[in-house]
Amino acid sequence: MKAIAYSSFGDTDVLNLTELPEPHPGPDTVVVEVHAAAINPVDSYIRGGHLAGVLDAHFPVVPGWDVAGVVVQVGLDTPEFSVGDEVYAYARKDVVSGGTLAERVAVPARTAALKPRSLSFTQAAAVPLTGLTALQTLRRAGVEAGDQVLIHGAAGGVGTFGVQIATHLGAHVVGTASAANHDYLCDLGAEPVEYGEHLVEHASVYAPEGFDRIIDFAGGASLDSAAALLSPTGTVASIADPRAATELGGHYVWVRPDAEDLRTLAQWIDDGRIHVEIAAEYPLERTAEAYRTLAGGHTRGKIVVTVH
Ligand SMILES: NC(=O)c1ccc[n+]([C@@H]2O[C@H](COP(=O)([O-])OP(=O)(O)OC[C@H]3O[C@@H](n4cnc5c(N)ncnc54)[C@H](OP(=O)(O)O)[C@@H]3O)[C@@H](O)[C@H]2O)c1
Repeated sequence: MKAIAYSSFGDTDVLNLTELPEPHPGPDTVVVEVHAAAINPVDSYIRGGHLAGVLDAHFPVVPGWDVAGVVVQVGLDTPEFSVGDEVYAYARKDVVSGGTLAERVAVPARTAALKPRSLSFTQAAAVPLTGLTALQTLRRAGVEAGDQVLIHGAAGGVGTFGVQIATHLGAHVVGTASAANHDYLCDLGAEPVEYGEHLVEHASVYAPEGFDRIIDFAGGASLDSAAALLSPTGTVASIADPRAATELGGHYVWVRPDAEDLRTLAQWIDDGRIHVEIAAEYPLERTAEAYRTLAGGHTRGKIVVTVH
């Protein structure tokens, strides 16, 4: 089968379109014919060798953890799925290997769910990693109805879901983004503020007593202002800055595959509560270009690679 793979750590120039053996379904695994696979910044950190102490890579690595497609083979004990099911998954395994940027991929059943019926495969592939990250981070931070919530990186892949889920939970959301994304944030349900030197002044207008929750989906300098903007009883959570836990007494979150959470997201999407924003689509052979675009750091929503 065709797949994107690399045999050494490096930049996008190590990515090759290549022929690889077909995947086999393990006992608790299904083989999915890939219609679409979304890309994420973490794929590039892994390819650069920056997570070598966290996740073992087995070369050649096929990158990608997000997938939407059709089950074409089932394992010995996968009662959750049948051949022909349309599924989506955050198909992260224990080692980095056999990813989703391929014609077919083995997907652990615990990482998959039936795809939202209202979405195309391209849209569905855009959901798992970022949607789960947003949901699990807001849950860890304890976001609830009536909270004043500040979300950093609100227009990105994770932020787009985070704003909509927090709003759905009944929170009042202020989101940071560049000015070009402010109308977009309003459409998602957030009050937009620009990140940078005037952030504290502009954001505190919405929460003079401090924010109940500060959620960092951007990293970098985002949490520098957390102490100034947080209410005395507030909580911080970040997916990109360990200071949230080490210095601010909050949470540093790493998304986990979770089929039940995928079913929750599918329900909210099919109910029309969550919109899925596609920034760009690329065919499999242009995956390297897709990663270069993502590395620009200003994607609105998700970049998706289409396969079948
Ligand atoms: N720990 C985990 O489990 C986990 C899971 C997913 C992602 N992550 C990490 O979280 C980060 C975001 O992921 P993503 O997929 O959402 O990335 P992404 O889609 O590339 O996000 C890009 C967004 O970040 C915004 N942005 C850039 N600089 C910003 C700043 N200084 N303040 C606020 N917003 C800023 C951009 O908005 P503008 O264009 O308006 O500037 C753009 O919309 C990455 O570092 C990723 O590796 C971690």
